[in-house]
Amino acid sequence: MNPSMKRASRGLFFSGCAAHTVEYTLETPAFEPGGGLTVVLISDLHSAVFAADQEPLVKAITQAEPDIILLTGDIFDSRIARAGAVLLLERIAGRAPLFYVTGNHEYRSGDIERIRAALASFQVRILSDEYVALKLPGGGVIAAGTEDPCKARYDDSAYNQGAAMERAFRELDGMRGFKILAAHRPEYIELYRRYNFDLVVSGHTHGGQVRIPGILNGLYAPNQGFFPKYAGGLYRLGKTTLIISRGLAVNPFIPRIYNPPELVVIRIKAGV
Ligand SMILES: [Fe+2]
Repeated sequence: MNPSMKRASRGLFFSGCAAHTVEYTLETPAFEPGGGLTVVLISDLHSAVFAADQEPLVKAITQAEPDIILLTGDIFDSRIARAGAVLLLERIAGRAPLFYVTGNHEYRSGDIERIRAALASFQVRILSDEYVALKLPGGGVIAAGTEDPCKARYDDSAYNQGAAMERAFRELDGMRGFKILAAHRPEYIELYRRYNFDLVVSGHTHGGQVRIPGILNGLYAPNQGFFPKYAGGLYRLGKTTLIISRGLAVNPFIPRIYNPPELVVIRIKAGV
């Protein structure tokens, strides 16, 4: 796989705070010549509302013409009303197949059952340590997802992410198709890499809050601490490419510096 990256200049607005679309292009031999797949990655919305009705987000998502949309957790916030997340889901439902994995905030909300019901009402497929095989114009795609490990604390004390992944994904070895894993937390990438995914998409880090372009890619990320190894952007890790969204939300009490909220578009094409 030969990833490259470009930054788009299309702007979004969140309560007057500019956001943007970041686009990555990957090549894979898993697709037939001419095949392709466009993934829109929505992460860490935290129920934020862009321009009152989510229109800038909806417009950017529509313009990307996604084949699938992946929601990588913390779409809902544990302390903010669910309305912003529900509004976005309502507006993008039916535009492309929607897949979701949990984040820590959905579990911490104490309202995971109602969140699951809201997602289901918009035909969002929840990937709870499971995968689906998709036949898309570009070729075969395996879309997999793992739970946030907060499940063990808030939902099922017997839950063990490593064991759940082993049960769900050991059979992927040898299966054909482009294999994508959605997982909220990038810091467990070495666990995810056991299953040879072509692409892992994550969030959770909010880009490390503070960046100095070319010098510092993220100052602090939850669960990784200061100077996080996996803060945001694209990482080539052997066979697997990891793409971490810097997320969409802004916390007014924790500034984002040189780190605007972002929507991620991943274009995957046939190649070597
Ligand atoms: Fe998170």
